Amino acid sequence: NEIYLGGLGGIVPELPMTADGLEKRAKEVLGPAEYAYVAGSASAERTAAANRAAFDRYRIIPRMLRGTTGPGARDLSVEVLGTRLAAPVLTAPIGVLELMHEGGEVIVAEVTKELGIGSVLSTAASSTIEEVGAAAGEWWYQLYWPNDPELARSFVQRAERAGAKAIVVTVDTPTLGWRPQDLELAHLPFLHGKGIANYLSDPVFRAKLPTPPEESEDAMRIAILTWVGLFGNHNLRATDLAHLREWTDLPIAVKGILHPDDARLVVDAGADAVVVSNHGGRQVDGSIAALDALPAVVASVGDRADVLFDSGVRSGADVLIALALGAKAVLYGRPYAYGLGIAGRDGARHALRLLLADFDSALGLSGCANVTDPNRGTIAAVR
Ligand code: FNR
Repeated sequence: NEIYLGGLGGIVPELPMTADGLEKRAKEVLGPAEYAYVAGSASAERTAAANRAAFDRYRIIPRMLRGTTGPGARDLSVEVLGTRLAAPVLTAPIGVLELMHEGGEVIVAEVTKELGIGSVLSTAASSTIEEVGAAAGEWWYQLYWPNDPELARSFVQRAERAGAKAIVVTVDTPTLGWRPQDLELAHLPFLHGKGIANYLSDPVFRAKLPTPPEESEDAMRIAILTWVGLFGNHNLRATDLAHLREWTDLPIAVKGILHPDDARLVVDAGADAVVVSNHGGRQVDGSIAALDALPAVVASVGDRADVLFDSGVRSGADVLIALALGAKAVLYGRPYAYGLGIAGRDGARHALRLLLADFDSALGLSGCANVTDPNRGTIAAVR
């Protein structure tokens, strides 16, 4: 309404009104390396395309005459992992948001707080856990589990102290996927030191450095090489979740699950939730579209764990379809980063409000009054 009524006064929106429009604008206004960092996926980028195509194979069958369209007729709120959200949406963890806008992570924390939705802070953030915790409303901490257990514990406990409401362990990235767009541009943002703020501010990490990284370029280079050596844990197993359980009382989600047996394994090992995700197609090219993996995971663990979803969400209808297939909430990825890159705080807020308004509209016009209404009968699979 705000936008249509603005049109009466001759006010035309300055920012694009779709996720695709945001991506297009980002390509025009961002530097090629910055754009490629967000847009790029693994290898031939088939999985990134499949993530979108999978949504196109479902259609909503709207129900009429249910009184769900008026103001106040819908309740979009949801409780997930003990966190109350105004809508079933959290921002996906995206590393090094400083490449999009200075203070990117803090801005996203503030904007999501303002909108009443959640945010998930990346381990590879360009701001510290404490800076973001001070600004955020409901937020979760995403852990890239380093191969030093003391450092892993330090990250988790710093996040808990800073107010995180859950720990999201990303298990699909023990090492980065093969990403030609990054490689062609020799664009390794971390190697400019931008993605390691959490490490540089961590006492366990600093104790491993011979000289403080602030001292010289050489000292910074050594810090970065130390980070590279610690980044991922190639030997992580589901049973390691028991350590996480000892380190924190927070709920645990495991992100990057595609196989129903893996979902069962991590829930048996103590995970409270799984995030069905293929990392936006950035890890294993040719892997199953995340949406196509969702029903089997819901069937395997949906009765004893929350199932969340990301990879390919671009509209309100997409959120509705993911919920209809059993997701409790979705993580929204690239579009908010593009918004941030295009217009900073206003752009990030705009990108998120677009999704929320579109979802609210799709829900009501489909005859749903709340987020638990969509189910398999709400959608049809088409060819
Ligand atoms: C990511 N993603 C990601 N995931 C994670 O657990 N930790 C991280 O630091 C990052 N960093 C990151 C950077 C960029 C530029 C992108 C695009 C993605 C994955 C992210 O959380 C999410 O799974 C995907 O973004 C979902 O795909 P779409 O919907 O954005 O295409």
